[in-house]
Amino acid sequence: MYVCLCQAVKDSEVRQAVASGVEDVDQLAEVLGVGTGCGSCRDFAQTLIDEALDESLAYAA
Ligand code: FES
Repeated sequence: MYVCLCQAVKDSEVRQAVASGVEDVDQLAEVLGVGTGCGSCRDFAQTLIDEALDESLAYAA
């Protein structure tokens, strides 16, 4: 599933970025370019980041 159509970034790539240390959409923009086009994906991208962080915390617990 594409998260950011402007940069053709998929949710799997967002999860990989979170596993590599990304914690918010600004950091995601730096590494993958998400949100640097029209910007309409930023809220959804942050939701995905939050979910991935929650999952990683639950996994670590
Ligand atoms: Fe991500 Fe446009 S869809 S910047």
